[in-house]
Amino acid sequence: MERRQNLTPFRARIGWQQPPCRFFFFILTFCMVQLFGTLLVRAQFQEGFISIDCGLVGGSDYGDHDNGLQYTGDSRYIDTGENKNVSENRFARRYGTLRSFPNGTRNCYRLSPVQSGNKYLIRAIFTYGNYDGKNSSPTFDLHIGVNFWTTVTIGSDPDLVSEIITVSRGNVIQVCLVNTGKGTPFISVLLLRPLDVMYPFANASQSLDMYRRSNYGAERELRYPDDPYDRIWTNVTEDFLLLNTTSEVDVKEDDAFRVPSKVLQTAVSDTRTDYNMTIQAVRGSPGERIYVVMHFAELLKLNSPNESRQMDIKGLDGNVRLFENYSPPYLRVDHIEIANVALDASGSYNVSIYASSSSTCSFTINALESFIVRPMNESETDDHDVSAIEDIKRAFKLSRNWEADPCSPRNYTWQGVSCNYSGDSGPARIISLDLSSSNLDGPIPTSIGNLTALVTLDLSNNNLTGPVPDILGELQSLQLLNLSRNEAIGAIPQNLCEKMFKGAISLSIYGDPKQCESLKSNKRKKIIITIIIVSQINKTRMLGRVQEEMTMLGKEKYQIGKGGFGTVYLGNLNDGTNVAVKVLSSSSLQGSKEFEAEVLLLGRVHHKNLVCLLGYCADSRHLSLVYEYMDNKTLKDHLSGIHDASLLNWNQRVNIALQSAQGLDYLHNGCQPPIIHRDIKSSNILLNCELVAKLADFGLSRTFNTDSATHITTRFGGTPGYLAPEYFQNDIINQKGDVYSFGIVLLEIITGQPLYQNSMEKTHIVKWIHSKVQNGDINNIIDPKLQGDFDINMAWKVVEIAMSCTSTTLEERMTMTDVMVQLKECLDSFIQSSNGTFVFGSATPTILLCG
Ligand SMILES: *[C@@H]1O[C@H](CO)[C@@H](O)[C@H](O)[C@H]1NC(C)=O
Ligand SMILES: *[C@@H]1O[C@H](CO)[C@@H](O)[C@H](O)[C@H]1NC(C)=O
Ligand SMILES: *[C@@H]1O[C@H](CO)[C@@H](O)[C@H](O)[C@H]1NC(C)=O
Ligand SMILES: *[C@@H]1O[C@H](CO)[C@@H](O)[C@H](O)[C@H]1NC(C)=O
Ligand SMILES: *[C@@H]1O[C@H](CO)[C@@H](O)[C@H](O)[C@H]1NC(C)=O
Ligand SMILES: *[C@@H]1O[C@H](CO)[C@@H](O)[C@H](O)[C@H]1NC(C)=O
Ligand SMILES: *[C@@H]1O[C@H](CO)[C@@H](O)[C@H](O)[C@H]1NC(C)=O
Ligand SMILES: *[C@@H]1O[C@H](CO)[C@@H](O)[C@H](O)[C@H]1NC(C)=O
Ligand SMILES: *[C@@H]1O[C@H](CO)[C@@H](O)[C@H](O)[C@H]1NC(C)=O
Ligand SMILES: *[C@@H]1O[C@H](CO)[C@@H](O)[C@H](O)[C@H]1NC(C)=O
Ligand SMILES: *[C@@H]1O[C@H](CO)[C@@H](O)[C@H](O)[C@H]1NC(C)=O
Ligand SMILES: *[C@@H]1O[C@H](CO)[C@@H](O)[C@H](O)[C@H]1NC(C)=O
Repeated sequence: MERRQNLTPFRARIGWQQPPCRFFFFILTFCMVQLFGTLLVRAQFQEGFISIDCGLVGGSDYGDHDNGLQYTGDSRYIDTGENKNVSENRFARRYGTLRSFPNGTRNCYRLSPVQSGNKYLIRAIFTYGNYDGKNSSPTFDLHIGVNFWTTVTIGSDPDLVSEIITVSRGNVIQVCLVNTGKGTPFISVLLLRPLDVMYPFANASQSLDMYRRSNYGAERELRYPDDPYDRIWTNVTEDFLLLNTTSEVDVKEDDAFRVPSKVLQTAVSDTRTDYNMTIQAVRGSPGERIYVVMHFAELLKLNSPNESRQMDIKGLDGNVRLFENYSPPYLRVDHIEIANVALDASGSYNVSIYASSSSTCSFTINALESFIVRPMNESETDDHDVSAIEDIKRAFKLSRNWEADPCSPRNYTWQGVSCNYSGDSGPARIISLDLSSSNLDGPIPTSIGNLTALVTLDLSNNNLTGPVPDILGELQSLQLLNLSRNEAIGAIPQNLCEKMFKGAISLSIYGDPKQCESLKSNKRKKIIITIIIVSQINKTRMLGRVQEEMTMLGKEKYQIGKGGFGTVYLGNLNDGTNVAVKVLSSSSLQGSKEFEAEVLLLGRVHHKNLVCLLGYCADSRHLSLVYEYMDNKTLKDHLSGIHDASLLNWNQRVNIALQSAQGLDYLHNGCQPPIIHRDIKSSNILLNCELVAKLADFGLSRTFNTDSATHITTRFGGTPGYLAPEYFQNDIINQKGDVYSFGIVLLEIITGQPLYQNSMEKTHIVKWIHSKVQNGDINNIIDPKLQGDFDINMAWKVVEIAMSCTSTTLEERMTMTDVMVQLKECLDSFIQSSNGTFVFGSATPTILLCG
């Protein structure tokens, strides 16, 4: 920040006395040749300049009369903010418009092209001109990329200038206006000038925020084209004795500052040797580091040994002696630097120059530049991360504080973004992205996969659609992916599933991880879902919506065949209770009131021989129903001897048949309206830890196979082998269909045979039993695994019941009530005949979660 030039405190020159040295006064004259030369320089050096007239409507370039600089509009460097005109009309054209930034915390100009690693001077000019009619004095910050440059405080000055010398870290230099809550940032003019390798003290880790650039002894301000780098050398004369020369001052090609000779050709001095000159070099905040460079050249031809100029230079209120007996070289530039000094509590640093005791001439100085050193130690975000997150921002049309660099400065890290800062050396990396509950819709942009350092990604509770991009599975560091509560999220890619099974990633999804099914693994996968409870242990409690978390432990194999409604998983509730979670493959009723009503209805169907529906998970594409967990798996497993299930004895078998019949009878006759199961089969009869049989999947075909729009019951396939013959003829679906299927189950129970005999003809079990019955040998019918351990009378009775149930004519088929009564009689008579010693299972129905 350049403060208007005032050298304070500095000593007023008292009178004009006999000069100790001879002064040469020259009149500078311009000749045509010099002017021509200047024009050439102009054309040559404007290369690489960026001169932006901020807020200029359109991109129209124009030349500035004063110094031939070519100004352009700013639309190609920034796309935020609003164009404004200053209301006061007294400014040069470039100050007549500005861009103000009422929205956003950080708005950045992107200056390019620049060369990475090259040094640039950047100058920003602020002409308030009461553009907003508020007569306000906003205060805001400027950043160079991710690093603090300065605080701009608009005061009474008509125009405020900030200038910094900085090294570009990339192919773009960002100049950001940062709203610090003290008014709307704005900018009038923004300039960039290449500085070659000058100012070695400015490097990649520190920039120089200009405080002063003084040209002593000059009567006019000097800048471009006199200074091809367009530095502005402010004329300082005040009460000094002015020195000037027409002789060129020698400045080498490789000089570190390349001060124009014209600047060096003037200087100030005093008539007396006992007076010092004190310059307030820098004012800032205590602790800030400063950098001062003084440019000297002796303009007078001194006749030694009689005439001499030696100076002492002191810093910090004249207390610290920096240089002694310093003599500037004649007509050749020399520099004295003050570096690595921090401002003390006073906040200012003064430089005093005075003639050494032996000197015959007073002090002199030609030019001075002073700066506050700005550390550039915030690490910018990795380029690839930036381009990926910018793409994500575009894709999701995010508006938050997502401006400028995502990770830096740390105080301005983007909301929802967390970064890993590796220090000065490497760039910052985005390691976490939380976009949960952000009203996002549409597909997940694949550019998320370019955030290669990502460890956690939370996209939960949005309206995302479409497939989950494969590339997420390729993120090496990703450990947590939360896609839950996105109603219509699509398929989970294989590679993610694999990682999940390997335990490399914790995947939270809402719905059916269908794509993961084909992969076999014993590893746990953890899926947190929200269950809406429709049944309670305590029936007197109101049915309500209780949120419970459930952890999927792994896939359970209950019944998997054609006509099923989905996959069953083992889960457990927060209180540790095991539950079975059926993830429905049909979703036509998803989210509808109708679905909810049906589930609530099913939740009210309670019978000791029906699997209790505890709740459901709403809002997912693939709905889930939560049932009580049945320890002993399916009847089918026990009959076929898989899962190491112990072989059921005859009495257990008949009892299971009876209990199943009771459950089905309740559906047919105890429910209003009656429920037709439509998928009775041995794999739909589940056994609890006490071997009590319960029917599963009741009500599903009616509820979930209905097209919600038309209410027409679509033809439901059921399970081949269990379907009644009339079903194939005319699609009749009634209770008698369930009776037929039950008969098939009974045959399975009795015979232990598969539905189709494993022969060329594929004889169905009904045909098979008919042929065996005709032979009249019960031992050829009953499961040989029982090794004859059964009651023959009871066996014949049960075979009879099964035959009746599987009759092709509906009239010959008994009702479930008949089946139930006859099976019960059968068992009762056996229990009587065995004088009460037979004890099976538990007399009372087992209550797990619902009664
Ligand atoms: C700033 O935000 C307001 C309100 O959100 C909006 O109307 C206006 O268009 C925005 N201006 C710019 C320049 O984005
Ligand atoms: C600023 O002034 C120019 C003409 O001088 C005019 O075209 C433009 O619309 C003005 N802009 C605003 C924001 O008033
Ligand atoms: C920049 O200069 C400072 C002071 O001379 C020095 O300590 C630092 O290491 C330099 N940084 C680089 C990146 O050269
Ligand atoms: C500095 O030069 C400008 C013209 O460039 C002039 O208007 C101003 O009065 C001068 N100031 C001093 C202190 O000489
Ligand atoms: C040089 O000094 C003389 C005497 O003070 C003055 O008249 C003249 O304008 C100065 N020239 C320049 C270019 O400053
Ligand atoms: C410079 O001169 C002023 C005024 O005489 C005096 O107050 C101050 O102490 C001097 N500074 C030094 C470093 O001698
Ligand atoms: C993502 O990375 C690929 C491959 O490196 C690249 O082609 C693509 O442009 C990147 N996309 C974004 C938005 O960064
Ligand atoms: C960053 O935040 C810390 C703590 O909130 C604060 O002390 C510091 O001043 C802030 N830095 C900037 C540059 O705002
Ligand atoms: C999904 O979109 C609907 C309307 O389009 C909206 O009401 C709902 O709040 C959104 N849900 C989320 C989680 O953003
Ligand atoms: C069932 O819940 C009701 C209401 O919360 C309560 O009063 C009653 O004591 C509960 N009964 C049992 C057996 O927990
Ligand atoms: C039934 O389940 C219980 C508890 O899991 C177990 O102890 C028992 O062995 C199981 N019985 C059969 C027949 O699998
Ligand atoms: C009846 O019970 C008694 C003792 O409980 C037993 O000794 C007898 O064998 C039983 N009779 C039959 C037919 O099982």
